[in-house]
Amino acid sequence: MTNARLSLDGREVTLPVVVGTEAEHGIDISNLRSETGAITLDLGYGNTGACKSAITYIDGEKGILRYCGYPIEQLAEHTQFTEVAYLLINGDLPNRQQYAEFRDKLTYHSLIHEDMKKFYEGYPPGAHPMAILSSMIASMSTYYPNGGADAEDLNIIRVLAKAKTIAAYSYKKSVGQPFIYPRNDLPYCGNFLHMMFAFPTEPYIVPKVAENALNKLLILHADHEQNCSTSTVRLVGSSQANLFASLSAGICALWGPLHGGANQAVIEMLEMIQADGCNYKKYVDLAKDKNSNFRLMGFGHRVYKNFDPRATILKKATDDVLNQMGVKDPLLDIAKSLEEVALNDGYFVERKLYPNVDFYSGIIYRAIGIPTNMFTVMFALGRLPGWIAHWKEQRQDSGRIGRPRQIYVGPKERSLVPLEKR
Ligand code: CMC
Repeated sequence: MTNARLSLDGREVTLPVVVGTEAEHGIDISNLRSETGAITLDLGYGNTGACKSAITYIDGEKGILRYCGYPIEQLAEHTQFTEVAYLLINGDLPNRQQYAEFRDKLTYHSLIHEDMKKFYEGYPPGAHPMAILSSMIASMSTYYPNGGADAEDLNIIRVLAKAKTIAAYSYKKSVGQPFIYPRNDLPYCGNFLHMMFAFPTEPYIVPKVAENALNKLLILHADHEQNCSTSTVRLVGSSQANLFASLSAGICALWGPLHGGANQAVIEMLEMIQADGCNYKKYVDLAKDKNSNFRLMGFGHRVYKNFDPRATILKKATDDVLNQMGVKDPLLDIAKSLEEVALNDGYFVERKLYPNVDFYSGIIYRAIGIPTNMFTVMFALGRLPGWIAHWKEQRQDSGRIGRPRQIYVGPKERSLVPLEKR
């Protein structure tokens, strides 16, 4: 076994090194504090492994992403989102019978409790659908309280099945249209599009190109190991909070513009550049100016330092989908030009900043009719299986509550002066 040696104030400690399947090395500092009194400090957790995980492997330098060993390129080309959900949650792809049973269960549990529909009456029409999604998912724990492993498996099916219904209803609420019930003859993505775009008064046929595009997008978002929202789900779950509460916390973490909220922010940025006469250089310069608070949204990644394989797949898919739909979106040309300017700029080259998954996803969502404020909800629908898989793995593997330490930098002990004397 490999060890690492650390010397601190003249004292030597030996630390075991954990090696992963892909020869990744992690120095195990679990006993560092008890042996030396010191902790490690790693702002933003850029260098900290919080768990061992068998779900997703990323090599950011080489642009590799695999779910349970399968390359993302193969999954995006040859599988359905529901197959990938099964893979992440169960650790292996389903055989045909397992897949049929899984899909049947997802279909059967698609309806939300009729009483839950009333919650929508309380939200204002302009409510952000991420706020609705997180509160509706947390509310599911009032209808399906925890109780044993069987209930846990059923709750996993329920949340996967109902999240798309909850999401589609939040859109229908925002445009003042009646809710459309799910249909048992439609697959997952088709059913979602049906609930989004059908009217009770006329027949609606789900466009195949939109269904396939959505399928691919959800697969590409399905997991991404220890990102902000997944780590949140694991941390909340480590307190033994129930599945719905943990997922709801993950949804809130995803909402921020540095994480899943970037897909909405990218389109808003491209629209701003369009309205300002497509002056790409101005915005690239602004992103480089540390006083501006402006960043190129959809650019950069904590882990990928070469290219984001999801963005590579999506850039091609964007062209394919728009061509097949006969859609001409000026924002696509703006995105491509902006990418070219940025990728040839020393600032972005030196810092290894490339387009990430959020740079092109919004243009596909727009083409299939999803409104901008629903983009992050789409990310959440895709990420659900990953969050669920990590929630399960955390419970099975560790059982230990997550509890980081800190370096205190506040005032030293001081005596209190009573209010009347201050
Ligand atoms: N535009 C301009 N400068 C940037 C950008 C950007 N998009 N991203 C990073 N930088 C600069 C940053 O200012 C810093 O410069 P310096 O070294 O001079 O201080 C350097 O690059 C390193 O950045 P960082 O903020 O330390 O990197 P990070 O790993 O902490 O942040 C990130 C990663 C994704 C939050 C960041 O790149 C960013 O804010 N990007 C824009 C938001 C975005 O697209 N988020 C979606 C991420 S992918 C989907 C997901 O999984 O959430």
